[in-house]
Amino acid sequence: MNKSSEKPEKNPLQMVNDLIETMRICDADPQEFIEHCLSIKTKNQQTVLLHLNTAQTMIHDRIKKLRALGKPIRMIILKARQEGVSTLCEALIFERTARFENTNSLIVAHEPESTDAIFAMSKLFYDLLPKWAKPMRRYDNKKQMVFENPDEKARAKDPGLRSRMVIATAEKAKVGRGLTIHNFHGSEVAFWKNAKELMLSVLQAIPNLPNTSVFLESTANGFGGDGEYFYKAVQDSIAGKNEFELIFLPWHLMDEYSLAFTGDKEKIKFSETLDEYEKNLKTSAKLSLEQLNWRRWAIQNLTGGDIEKFKQEYPATIEEAFVASSKSVIPKQYIEAQGKFTRAPIRKLDDILIYEEPNPKHFYSLGADPSEGIGQDDSAITIFDKMTGREVGSYIGQIQPDLFAKKIKQAAELFNDALAIVEINNHGLAVINALKGEYSNLYQRTVFDKHTNTKRKELGWKTSQTTKPLMVDDFIAGLRDDDIGLSSQTTVSQMMTFVHTNESNRYGMGAESGQKDDALISAMLAWQGLKELPSEMPMQRKGRSMKLY
Ligand SMILES: Nc1ncnc2c1ncn2[C@@H]1O[C@H](COP(=O)(O)OP(=O)(O)OP(=O)(O)O)[C@@H](O)[C@H]1O
Ligand SMILES: [Mg+2]
Repeated sequence: MNKSSEKPEKNPLQMVNDLIETMRICDADPQEFIEHCLSIKTKNQQTVLLHLNTAQTMIHDRIKKLRALGKPIRMIILKARQEGVSTLCEALIFERTARFENTNSLIVAHEPESTDAIFAMSKLFYDLLPKWAKPMRRYDNKKQMVFENPDEKARAKDPGLRSRMVIATAEKAKVGRGLTIHNFHGSEVAFWKNAKELMLSVLQAIPNLPNTSVFLESTANGFGGDGEYFYKAVQDSIAGKNEFELIFLPWHLMDEYSLAFTGDKEKIKFSETLDEYEKNLKTSAKLSLEQLNWRRWAIQNLTGGDIEKFKQEYPATIEEAFVASSKSVIPKQYIEAQGKFTRAPIRKLDDILIYEEPNPKHFYSLGADPSEGIGQDDSAITIFDKMTGREVGSYIGQIQPDLFAKKIKQAAELFNDALAIVEINNHGLAVINALKGEYSNLYQRTVFDKHTNTKRKELGWKTSQTTKPLMVDDFIAGLRDDDIGLSSQTTVSQMMTFVHTNESNRYGMGAESGQKDDALISAMLAWQGLKELPSEMPMQRKGRSMKLY
């Protein structure tokens, strides 16, 4: 019967050997288990093994690195729509729970329909598992799966894994005291009404052990209201203030987000109609015309012609994801345009982030915004290079005025005795007093004395009804002309939540409630400082004692 066109049948020994080899591979690598054993329903209604796509592979590569370092998995995933993120998180959690003993996993989604969809996904994983990989299962009648011997009598001797997966909707999820969770998946966290409270109890229940994992994933939902917790978690992760690693998945990672042209004619015509945004995106993200064609189609057909909505649902950059709902003083397009400048620091000087080494031939300006009260606000420093407009150093932290003065001196001295422009409102006075005997290149403002009718110089920048709009307008002009290149993602993010306010002590503008603007104010101060600096280095430059006044 063995015709030459048919595959030769395997002998039983060969089959056993193959199975043992598959089991060995799956044991060694969770990705192999996922790709060999877990099945999904695709968008075009097929049931196939889950072969990781580009976005899923990106996430999984980061997980592998964390596991290799023996670290717990703590991830925030900021994503575009329909990239397969829920599927991957589910698969990862299923792999842990259906293969290891005494594992508790909790999955929380934002609405009942998503909870049902995630439960159905996990059921399919189980139902289509190969026999050798199928653990005993007790029941799945509620939104949970218990991997345990279903036979009550036999359970004492042969209990099974004693592991469970619970799937709940955010508003109904309860995490009681005394519960231990090993794996947690929060789906569409930016849409939960109770994210802050729920995550507080979830995080208490997860031990800080290498075999635990937390995945918080969402498309953005602005930075206020329900979206606030997720926005803050993303910002804190960027600033290194929490233990979560941020993964951003732009829309163009998905191969299927591409639309072919009907012919060359249409393609050429399309290429002639690209606007500035499309041209920039094409270059910065190396996009094909087909991808941009899909983008135009999706704006019309998926988000009803609303570009801002498209950017929120299908962002190309982190800024875009959140900026859609911004009522920022700074025009959105200037904020987004800064995305091309942000970069990781090359090193730290204590906790000062350095993005570029000082160039001995360049002048630098340092802006310092002292916090208004210890325990609430951050103090911030930004350093700009006069010749390039690039941010070369930054610092953010909660620090007392005398120590902040030391930090300013340390950073300024590194950058060729930068001109330090320190805001003296509130705690700033204490900072300038601590600094003045220690560091000489301090910005001085002109003060007009009404009594004597004379002008005099005083140390530090005073923010007032007059100077604040000036400082903000100059900064906006610098952004508009691409003269400013910010390195710090935190500063760029603070621009989105810098809004008009009617609080008199903030002179019409400041951080939206619950948000911060310290890094941004320090950048604006540094930008003012640049105006004071000569653009060319004098032929004979003195050393550390150089004064510009
Ligand atoms: N690797 C893959 N190959 C093929 N199809 C996949 C893959 N991963 C997920 N899918 C399918 O893509 C669709 C979207 O997946 P999923 O719901 O996980 O994405 P998501 O990013 O969470 O989407 P949403 O933005 O709606 O929350 C589902 O139909 C899923 O089965
Ligand atoms: Mg999802």
